[in-house]
Amino acid sequence: MQKKILITGGAGFIGSHVVRLFVNKYPEYQIINLDKLTYAGNLENLKDVENAPNYEFVKGDIQEKDFLAQLFTDKKITDVIHLAAESHVDRSISGPMEFIITNIVGTANLLEVARTSWLEGEHVFYHISTDEVYGSLGAEGFFEETTAYDPRSPYSASKASSDHLVRAYYHTYKLPVKLSNCSNNYGSHQFPEKLIPLMINNIKNNKPLPVYGTGENVRDWLWVEDHARAIDTIFHKGKIGDTYNIGGWNEWTNIALVKKMCQIMDVKLGRDAGTSEKLITYVKDRAGHDMRYAIDATKIKDELGWVPSLEFEEGLDKTVDWYLQNEEWINDVTSGDYQKYYKQHYSN
Ligand code: NAD
Ligand code: TYD
Repeated sequence: MQKKILITGGAGFIGSHVVRLFVNKYPEYQIINLDKLTYAGNLENLKDVENAPNYEFVKGDIQEKDFLAQLFTDKKITDVIHLAAESHVDRSISGPMEFIITNIVGTANLLEVARTSWLEGEHVFYHISTDEVYGSLGAEGFFEETTAYDPRSPYSASKASSDHLVRAYYHTYKLPVKLSNCSNNYGSHQFPEKLIPLMINNIKNNKPLPVYGTGENVRDWLWVEDHARAIDTIFHKGKIGDTYNIGGWNEWTNIALVKKMCQIMDVKLGRDAGTSEKLITYVKDRAGHDMRYAIDATKIKDELGWVPSLEFEEGLDKTVDWYLQNEEWINDVTSGDYQKYYKQHYSN
């Protein structure tokens, strides 16, 4: 039976990399990209595959269960890779309801439609999640697959809820699920509300670089194409019912990372060394700001043979180049609503 894989959120940052990988690598599959095209979704991200014979885009909302049920019937969906979500912590603090409805209810809708549509045959419902569900670490330790959940922002709480629902459908209904929890991604096509593209854009435009609190918070960074490779590996080789942590073994304090980006961009923009660092501005801390995220990705490495492919310096270099070479993309996504968001969020 031909696989007809529904990828939700395929017009977003990570989703577009996953769609591209699957469309190019598996011409024998039919890839259906379902996306609501919120502020974070952009079909420009998929220009290079939009005419591929094994690719189709459907605009739609996972909040609408009847629409999903019709889509499963019409397209004979065999598998789901679920990425659609509201994804930005700061927006979840200023407006949590959209996160609750899309991330929790939307995931429940997809699970329910898969459960009632997949009465026979082989299927996979693969749910993509975040390491933020595990909470906040101190200086020591790593998140393992067995670490108890302790989400602390509306975003991470909504993702944790959706993870619990996915596991409940496995235990209760034997829905063939897989899950993964990944650390912070970076790379091309990331919306410039997240740290790395926001800093790139601000450095380029000589705007203040807003560092929250002390800048000592730590994140583990993974190149988005390595995450997409991990998703491919888990989709094909991961065990039904299992969870895999994905990380880069690449921890940085925010301030060290921002300084590193300033150095890279001073060279690329032909500025004197130290010029961009002068733009660093400490601003009011994020409410409930998690101190440190760090992933133990031993399980996916040992069981499935996945490891990151790219050194961070090379990944950052490629990422900066992409943003500098894609001025039209960045101008497009930072016009209109972004200006309003930026002003509201960073005004103090
Ligand atoms: P993103 O915000 O860039 O993209 C989300 C996509 O989902 C957008 O295309 C948007 O239009 C779509 N969407 C939003 N609401 C929808 C709805 N109701 N119906 C259909 N589509 C909808 O997010 P991202 O950074 O690409 O993250 C993708 C997934 O990966 C999310 O589930 C996120 O929790 C998870 N994740 C992200 C990171 C990260 O560092 N960005 C790390 C780990 C896990
Ligand atoms: P972000 O990219 O929003 O990812 P997440 O909160 O999901 O980890 O932020 C990464 C880190 O950078 C986080 O510790 C918050 C910090 N940060 C800033 O210091 N300034 C900013 O303008 C942004 C967007 C984030």
